Amino acid sequence: MLNNWSPDSWRKVPIVQVPDYADAAKLAVVEKRLAGFPPLVFAGEARKLKKKLARVSEGKGFLLQGGDCAESFAEHSADNIRDFFRVFLQMAVVLTFAGGQPVVKVGRIAGQFAKPRSSPTEKIDGVEYPIYRGDIINGSEATAEARQPDPERQIMAYRQSAATLNLLRAFAQGGYANLEHVHRWTLGFLQDSPAFERYQELANRITETMGFMRACGITAETAPQLRQTDFFTSHEALLLGYEQAMTRIDSTSGDWYATSGHMLWVGDRTRQPDHAHIEFCRGIKNPVGLKCGPSLKADELIRLIDTLNPENEPGRLTLIARFGADKVEKHLPEMIRAVKREGRVVVWSCDPMHGNTIKATSGYKTRPFDAILLEVRRFMAIHQTEGTHAGGIHVEMTGKDVTECTGGVRALRDEDLNDRYHTFCDPRLNAAQALELSFLVAEEIKKEMASRPPMFFDDTMEAAE
Ligand code: PEP
Ligand code: CO
Repeated sequence: MLNNWSPDSWRKVPIVQVPDYADAAKLAVVEKRLAGFPPLVFAGEARKLKKKLARVSEGKGFLLQGGDCAESFAEHSADNIRDFFRVFLQMAVVLTFAGGQPVVKVGRIAGQFAKPRSSPTEKIDGVEYPIYRGDIINGSEATAEARQPDPERQIMAYRQSAATLNLLRAFAQGGYANLEHVHRWTLGFLQDSPAFERYQELANRITETMGFMRACGITAETAPQLRQTDFFTSHEALLLGYEQAMTRIDSTSGDWYATSGHMLWVGDRTRQPDHAHIEFCRGIKNPVGLKCGPSLKADELIRLIDTLNPENEPGRLTLIARFGADKVEKHLPEMIRAVKREGRVVVWSCDPMHGNTIKATSGYKTRPFDAILLEVRRFMAIHQTEGTHAGGIHVEMTGKDVTECTGGVRALRDEDLNDRYHTFCDPRLNAAQALELSFLVAEEIKKEMASRPPMFFDDTMEAAE
């Protein structure tokens, strides 16, 4: 057992980004109820994810993490979940094929409800309101009542997460993830796409490979890997009372696991080394992520790694770099070198969203597709120079045709943002932009693979489901 850690030890240290609940007794009652609810995920699943991430840290895999910036109660529907999952699988197939390595699929879903904010209040039409902090905390409507944090929302978030997860498990295991279907959807997408030619070659090679496998008798009927997949969930561990209530001892290992999602991460705004969010995450055994932004210093990063992964366990820690296309070259090499020098094992992932947010002339918060792509390209080029593995991407995306990020093959403009700007928080890639990004990242992965010594079949192939 870890020194002085307990699921509530975070309560004794400083904390930021806490909602101002008016009724502490009511909050305590809700947390107690949650603590009696069934776990959403199991320790064994979190361990499985950790093993897969350990392979990524060895350069034998790629992490695809993505989903909404903030899930919402209003947008909870089977269609939304299905559309997200469909595009996510398409992205994963493209990335798997490009690298010839397993892609670890982790959604920002079934628990991604709480948001860190830069200001505690905001002014709307001259009236000041408490800021919206995500549906698990308060409502987004501009009324004093909606903005009041309400503990009961945590129960609702738990129930929504359970329902979402239930559908995702069915999709992942029940035939929806069939590789033949997934590839057919991608071909359909390409037919309608102005960028058809550029991506066609890779798609054709997938088609040929599947034909070859079929000829060898490897089909969805004969090989379960072709009809089902492992899909994991993740969210930011921000609302610690909720997380504590969902943290349970695993009877097999005797260790504490957060059961609200398979992987939890600490955001760029709550990663102060002596503060509550790091304190909480150091004690749970799940894989954890740490967002690394421009204000993080290399020595502080090493201190955080010491706290979060003192035993240097592979797969435990994913560093999610989110510097911005214009800053990644300034900050990332120093971080990579420090981690290497200290002999730390991590997965390096790139979040090209949070450092590239701008305000459009229309007033909307947006992200240019080109900046997103540029950050990933620079991230991957830096890893190639440093001789380390660019282990994954972390994106905000949806399966719907929203208009929140500019650019992409359909060349969305500032003027178009107003059409379908539906996000509850940050702008997301729409389905076409997300899939296009994966084709472009695939090109970068191929470069990394081409620069490596030839790899022969080994046991990595086993993990390629
Ligand atoms: C997020 O992932 O939605 C987020 C707030 O990110 P960051 O902590 O990197 O700002
Ligand atoms: Co966000």
